[in-house]
Amino acid sequence: MPVYSEKVMDNFMNPRNVGEIADADGIGEVGNPVCGDMMTFYIKVRDNRLEDVKFKTFGCGAAIAVSSMVSQMATGMTLDEALKLTNASVAEELGGLPTNKLHCSNLGADALHAAIQDYLKKKGGNGDGRKAE
Ligand code: FES
Repeated sequence: MPVYSEKVMDNFMNPRNVGEIADADGIGEVGNPVCGDMMTFYIKVRDNRLEDVKFKTFGCGAAIAVSSMVSQMATGMTLDEALKLTNASVAEELGGLPTNKLHCSNLGADALHAAIQDYLKKKGGNGDGRKAE
């Protein structure tokens, strides 16, 4: 029986930033090949910073907790900073995940990065997160 940290439980029971942004600047959707769960991130960008981050996750409790944590960590970051967010750092911020649930954290940063890449593509950026505003 996996044991979850308090932070995981809190973010699972009261996930922050759930929903979608109707006029999102970027949308990123990834699926987990291990279990088939899906995660979509919506971002609003202003002055090269993530002004708003929302998500919808069709997945397990750990995946929901991860999405919630990613959205909180990423809000206010520059695009470069957000692109450097790793799945491992998100799991660490959550106080760790049980080993057999570590794959659930793989979606979080990936979906966020996909949303940023989507934004950069729409803006005609070069895809490396260094689009000048
Ligand atoms: Fe699918 Fe956790 S079991 S993301």
